[in-house]
Amino acid sequence: MSVKKIAVLTSGGDAPGMNAAIRAVVRTCAYHNVEVLGVYRGYQGMIEGDFVELNARSVRDTINKGGTFLKSARSKEFRTPEGRKKAYENLKKSGADALIVIGGDGSFTGALLFNEEFNFPVMGIPGTIDNDIYGTSHTLGYDTALNTAVEAIDKIRDTASSHDRMFFIEVMGRDAGFIALNTGIGVGAERILIPEENTTAEELLADIEKGYAKGKTSNIIIVAEGDKSGKNVFQLKEYVESKHPGFDIRVAILGHMQRGGAPSCYDRVLASRMGVKAVETLLEGKSNYMVGVNNDVIDLTPLEKAIKGGSKLDMELVRVAEIMSV
Ligand code: F6P
Repeated sequence: MSVKKIAVLTSGGDAPGMNAAIRAVVRTCAYHNVEVLGVYRGYQGMIEGDFVELNARSVRDTINKGGTFLKSARSKEFRTPEGRKKAYENLKKSGADALIVIGGDGSFTGALLFNEEFNFPVMGIPGTIDNDIYGTSHTLGYDTALNTAVEAIDKIRDTASSHDRMFFIEVMGRDAGFIALNTGIGVGAERILIPEENTTAEELLADIEKGYAKGKTSNIIIVAEGDKSGKNVFQLKEYVESKHPGFDIRVAILGHMQRGGAPSCYDRVLASRMGVKAVETLLEGKSNYMVGVNNDVIDLTPLEKAIKGGSKLDMELVRVAEIMSV
């Protein structure tokens, strides 16, 4: 069956570049004379039939905007067979005959189930700042989040240096250390705690002490939100203070500022390339793939593999970080 109308939605946490990806899907459809239906609020909008017809002009002025104009949600109802059935009926009624999901692995799991239950063609575009998806070296929003975090921490460094202070800075990433590790190298952090390593507070303290012995006067310590030290940034501060009451220590949590803002050029180009590939793959009659980028080549990974593959952090970066903080 040839695809005549494609529905597109954004799901899970928003990420810079999602708008650029929606735009790419819409414009590629226009190029190939295929209709497009925007679905508001992810799967929840599908369940409620909250749709909007989109054309090439409806996505003007979107490539440069953070967030997602289609809005996003984490739908509990879509996890139930009844919710998915409602969503399918609405989508069928709308005339859409394929679906593109822009989101993370949770969103892809929903897409795969939807395909299995209703034999509805689906494609995934990875959109999350965490970069924690198998089958792509970069997810949409990750590059922007890195740049945002680096810009913020550079500013914090000014105070750290001026006052000879130590800063514990928490960055996002859920259970993955991509943002922490790359940001840490980018800002010249003294120490980076990531979930992929089991650094204890005692080991951290020993490294800090070694640093001072080698003449360091300030410290930037990046802590991934999912790190395994067993202590959050406030507890780490208290622990180090309890051993060295003279240290001047502060805490900063970058939080959701990492998820917002205009996408970087890298994310805009990546979103454009991924949108083209997602639409054209559906038009070739294929389904159940995630579009990814590897060695700067856009390719496809079966959705199932993308969900179950598990993303891998390059541990050589850990060594680079260690050498850089000598
Ligand atoms: O997945 C993106 C992300 O920002 C994670 O880094 C973070 O753990 C989580 O979402 C926060 O979710 P919420 O915005 O629902 O608090």
